[in-house]
Amino acid sequence: MSVQYQAIGWNRQKRLYDAILVGLVALYIALFAGIGSLVHPNATAETLLIRGFGTAAILLLHVILAIGPLCRLNARFLPLLYNRRHLGVTMFLLALVHGVFSIAQFHALGDRNPLVRVLVSNPRYDSFIEFPFQSLGFLALLILFVMAATSHDFWLNNLTPAIWKRIHMTVYVAYALLVAHVTLGALQSERDPLLAATLVVGLGAVLMLHLIAARREGRMDNELRVTEADGFMDVCPISAIPENRAKVVCAGGERVAVFRYDGKVSAISNVCLHQNGPLGEGRIVDGCITCPWHGYQYKPENGAAPLPFTEKVATYAVRVRDGRVQIDPRANPPGTFIEPARLSSYTARDCDAQLR
Ligand code: HEM
Ligand code: FES
Repeated sequence: MSVQYQAIGWNRQKRLYDAILVGLVALYIALFAGIGSLVHPNATAETLLIRGFGTAAILLLHVILAIGPLCRLNARFLPLLYNRRHLGVTMFLLALVHGVFSIAQFHALGDRNPLVRVLVSNPRYDSFIEFPFQSLGFLALLILFVMAATSHDFWLNNLTPAIWKRIHMTVYVAYALLVAHVTLGALQSERDPLLAATLVVGLGAVLMLHLIAARREGRMDNELRVTEADGFMDVCPISAIPENRAKVVCAGGERVAVFRYDGKVSAISNVCLHQNGPLGEGRIVDGCITCPWHGYQYKPENGAAPLPFTEKVATYAVRVRDGRVQIDPRANPPGTFIEPARLSSYTARDCDAQLR
């Protein structure tokens, strides 16, 4: 974790992010209700709100799912990622309002508990076209609730990043349930096909972005070959690594980030301990490798976070031979100090000239 990073507490950037988010959501709902009442003069305010909040939630879910791959493809999207959890909680709240209004509108009048009625009032679980689509939305809402409730770093630290990540990957289950919820709902109510068409475009865009990002990641996973008798592997010419940046390679089955800084070269695991962010896509700030996702920091020589933080990642032996960087693919235990490879002043000047 970085010294500057504040897990708790609001800063100007977070306030601005949230203000823009709330403003955009309010604008969307107002426009949806305004235009909806003109286009469908017979629609009740409840119906417009149910639809407005539901579509706002699913739209935001698409944005959330697109941010990950977009950031892998272009660093300019990173500011969106810093507070992605705020988007997630906002999306859950919008979906909750939609769900509560829907239950109040369609399931509140009866002897049974409205929550039970959502699940049993339409018993056609054996039919595709008449399937009780509300129950799919209900299940998705439960998943979104668990994610929103555990979104804070408190839960990340207590559940461990691996379990936390697994919980948050269920967003894809929720997404699949919601695609079915909206598609079946639209099919059953014989509404205009615009919603279904928009959903297909959204689904296609999310899939495409994930595939492109996965292909790019896959290229990174081409294992380096052992080129030296002592097991070292050739990484690249030193001139291929810009100052304070890294080259990410796959060695020993793991992604390794090889950083060049201050006339030296060090190599550490590419995987940030916070949420598996790609350390090699970050840069060196104040002498520490800084994760591009939320700013956790690690010292390049030993992979340890600066005090008082305690995170440690694996380090790798590294050297420079004839202007080329080589690493030993055997990972050292997290936090192990490894003497950085030093560039001669000639080599450093030479690289800078080549990079210019
Ligand atoms: C308790 C959970 C839920 C219930 C009971 C529920 C119920 C409904 C109902 C009755 C409709 C049809 C509304 C209409 O045609 O006027 C609908 C549509 C929709 N729902 Fe849900 N839903 C739930 C959860 C969700 C969640 C979690 C999301 C998204 C994150 C969502 C997104 C949508 C969308 C986008 C539509 C289509 C809106 C439209 O027709 O314009 N729903 N839902
Ligand atoms: S700081 Fe969050 S993933 Fe690295």
